[in-house]
Amino acid sequence: MALYSDLRGSIILVTGGANGIGEAMVRAFHSQDAEVYFCDLDKDKGARLSVELGEGVFFRKVDLTKEREICHWIEGIGRNRERIDCVVNNAARDPRIPIESMDSKQWDNLFQSNLKACFLTCRESLKWMKGPHGSIINFSSITFHIGPSDMSAYVATKGGVIGFTRALAREVGPRGIRVNTLSPGWVMTERQLKEFVNSSVKRQIKKDQCVPKLIQTEEIAEVALFLAAEASRAITGQEILADRGWAYS
Ligand SMILES: NC(=O)c1ccc[n+]([C@@H]2O[C@H](COP(=O)([O-])OP(=O)(O)OC[C@H]3O[C@@H](n4cnc5c(N)ncnc54)[C@H](O)[C@@H]3O)[C@@H](O)[C@H]2O)c1
Repeated sequence: MALYSDLRGSIILVTGGANGIGEAMVRAFHSQDAEVYFCDLDKDKGARLSVELGEGVFFRKVDLTKEREICHWIEGIGRNRERIDCVVNNAARDPRIPIESMDSKQWDNLFQSNLKACFLTCRESLKWMKGPHGSIINFSSITFHIGPSDMSAYVATKGGVIGFTRALAREVGPRGIRVNTLSPGWVMTERQLKEFVNSSVKRQIKKDQCVPKLIQTEEIAEVALFLAAEASRAITGQEILADRGWAYS
């Protein structure tokens, strides 16, 4: 894993950091000696991870569909540390629901956890992002480019993330804060492997990608490190696809 010396001691927030790609990012930022504040609904996994990593890693149970919980979490960090350097909006849900059986409550809930939470986390964190540098990384998905069936609401939320990111990059750019979208391809998280990825799906993924090798969570975490670090200072308002060349192959 690359070492970015400017990340040492920086204050990093990660949402949904107890599992999957989020967990890999918590580990990766910790390995750079950053101070990592992560939240999740999964209290047991979050607490276990923060105990395992020890110094410099702080977990809080937050339900990102609750505005008050987001505000309390971020205000606590801001007041304590008096600055925030990087925010990673990673948490999301990706249910498969055919359009005919999706009710409007399910649609609204998905927008709340996948898009509104991203807006609220940015708004609250920006109060403490004082520049001259800062990085916000919002997670979208390869599905925005592929458009798979039974995922219309999820894909709509992820399209929203890309639009939100582009406009926010323009708005906060004058303060030295960069905002980018990170869109993973199909990543072999514990949950994806349990629920969706069997051996025939693996074969198909390898055929769809330019490079036929399954993507692991640590590889996405490495891209997040780059986007957080000054090494990527010329990049803002962009969508970075980390999909081994699936979307446009
Ligand atoms: N895994 C993939 O193949 C893949 C592909 C493309 C995009 N993505 C995106 O990457 C990001 C991470 O995905 P993942 O596969 O690691 O997910 P995951 O399901 O493995 O982990 C997501 C974490 O977010 C937490 N979370 C969900 N809703 C929450 C809420 N309301 N409040 C607090 N925490 C909440 C969950 O508890 C979980 O720990 C998501 O934005 C996802 O859309 C993933």
